[in-house]
Amino acid sequence: MIIAIDGPSGAGKSTVAKLLSNKLNFEYIDTGAMYRALAYKAYINKIDIHEENSDKISKMLNSTTVDYYDNNIYLDGQNVEGLIRDELISINASKISTLAIVRNKMVDLQRKIAENKNVILDGRDIGTVVFPNADYKFFVTASEEVRAVRRYNQLVVSNKDIILENILADIKKRDEKDSSRKISPLRIADDAILIDTSDMSLEETVNKLVDIIGGPN
Ligand code: C5P
Repeated sequence: MIIAIDGPSGAGKSTVAKLLSNKLNFEYIDTGAMYRALAYKAYINKIDIHEENSDKISKMLNSTTVDYYDNNIYLDGQNVEGLIRDELISINASKISTLAIVRNKMVDLQRKIAENKNVILDGRDIGTVVFPNADYKFFVTASEEVRAVRRYNQLVVSNKDIILENILADIKKRDEKDSSRKISPLRIADDAILIDTSDMSLEETVNKLVDIIGGPN
């Protein structure tokens, strides 16, 4: 069974997806972490992310392995879960994910990893492109302000100097980039269930999804 959870940055998709995967005993795949890992590698290798650098990025892709298991992202065999969550990598992930060569490789990989499993995937294009026939499709969102505060609360734990206004500006920038890109823009699949979590707790959100799916068997 495939459960697709899409939505904009900071909506809490990955936290919801992880909790849901525990409840249902499904595997979880964080597809955003894959784009983040590639953005991180480009950053380490000082490759600027834009179309004109497609050759360099393509070369990098050909010599890169990405994998996701046990709630961790692996880049060339190394667990980089703790290295890919800051704002710079967020913006660069949003940039690198606009490139067709990158998306094609990641979508293939996501389909392969999910093959013959009970899986929850979260991202931007899971219900529209990666698994258009997913058993359940959710579009989890919240207002920009609520998403900025949630993201701030996550990041302030490791960086006391971050500023809420900057986070809100980054969220708006990423929303704009993710929704306006040519390939696989962020949009609600026609058959997705919209969940606005602006006024919902994490627990309420997870319970709502469990109710819809029908709970663990
Ligand atoms: O979900 P997360 O914020 O970690 O994703 C980082 C970036 O990766 C997003 O802003 C988006 O540009 C990109 N992404 C994507 N398609 C996905 C998952 C993430 O384009 N399925």
